[in-house]
Amino acid sequence: MTGSAGPGAPPPGSMIPLCVPEIAGNEWDYIKECLDTNWVSHVGAFVDRFEVELAEYVGSKHAVATVSGTAALHIALLVAGVEPDDEVLVPALTFIAPANAVRYCQAWPVFIDVEPRFWQLDIDRVARFLEDECVVREGALHKRASGRRVKAVLPVHVLGHPVDMDPLLDLARRYGLTVVEDATESLGARYKDRMAGNLGDIAVFSFNGNKLITTGGGGMIVTDNREWADRARYLTTQAKDDPIEYVHNEVGFNYRLTNVQAAMGCAQLEDIEDRIAAKRAIAEAYRDGLVDVEGVALPEEAGWASSAWWLYTVLVDRAAFGLDSRAVLLSLGDAGIQTRPLWRPLHLSSAHAGSHGGQFEVAERLHRDALSLPSSVGLTSGEQQRVIEELRRAKANETVS
Ligand SMILES: Cc1ncc(COP(=O)(O)O)c(C=O)c1O
Repeated sequence: MTGSAGPGAPPPGSMIPLCVPEIAGNEWDYIKECLDTNWVSHVGAFVDRFEVELAEYVGSKHAVATVSGTAALHIALLVAGVEPDDEVLVPALTFIAPANAVRYCQAWPVFIDVEPRFWQLDIDRVARFLEDECVVREGALHKRASGRRVKAVLPVHVLGHPVDMDPLLDLARRYGLTVVEDATESLGARYKDRMAGNLGDIAVFSFNGNKLITTGGGGMIVTDNREWADRARYLTTQAKDDPIEYVHNEVGFNYRLTNVQAAMGCAQLEDIEDRIAAKRAIAEAYRDGLVDVEGVALPEEAGWASSAWWLYTVLVDRAAFGLDSRAVLLSLGDAGIQTRPLWRPLHLSSAHAGSHGGQFEVAERLHRDALSLPSSVGLTSGEQQRVIEELRRAKANETVS
């Protein structure tokens, strides 16, 4: 069965995997250095270096390394001032982690549909929600129906393509919302002349196994706000108020990345431009190879965007292609090619029942039709041609039968 491997894990046998790590540089040397020097835990030169280099790459003033992107989201929301019973706007179509992180703060996600062109948070719908469903009371924005404060918006740059941030930032300023950017899938993407992750008030990255660079598991918070960065460092390291006497004035978290993982991250960061170039070349080759296939719609890149093309994802129109996306998944799986649908829209998740309202026809259509194709940085052109040929063959077979 395809699609059963975890993030970045190699699938069984000789399958072409969806998206696996590329380890071809100084990873061994840097990790060995940690082992040789005994700096293997949560303190060490590589953790500090990884933070500095990632912040520099993104153009942020501060960075705080965490055990995962999900932990980074949790802490980013806390330092941004999200409190119990607040509400936070989240796109309906995303991996579930941002909605979960909102709940870790005992706040509530408000799901907003995505737009049909680039599949990102629909800013017009955000505007309508803020105008029609919210009211300013005692200096803060509240949702009329729940009476709760609406504190933040959490745009996710889905699949490596940036959200149209300028109009969203305008809305956030107008309504007093904090912008927590989920850039976990979009390291290396650009919005106009700015890097994804340096667009909102605070942002997070993930380095799990299927991301552009990986530390096995890991994450990063980036922000220009010194106070927030200091607080994030404090909360991710058990909220320690005295280094010797075990004084803790707040409930903290054991969320800090280890030096061994950061060593891997430093090595991975060294060839990031090559990685982005590889992703962009993969996208171009898929575009060239699939552009004339009837029933397959290709993803678009906005004029103001440079996508990181995390997972190249197509839409399969059942009527025109002859098979639906899940049948194509099975057919490619039989041919040794791992593909994956997009996430079940979050308003349909029992984990977040009661958080929703509104229409989600775009998220639902994308969930039904989308299929992500193998997109590893190390995907060879031969492997990619096989994916293209098998996809074309699936249609040809269906047309004949
Ligand atoms: C949109 C989004 N947010 C958050 C995460 C969570 O990152 P992690 O797996 O590092 O916890 C992911 C990860 O896979 C993601 O795709």
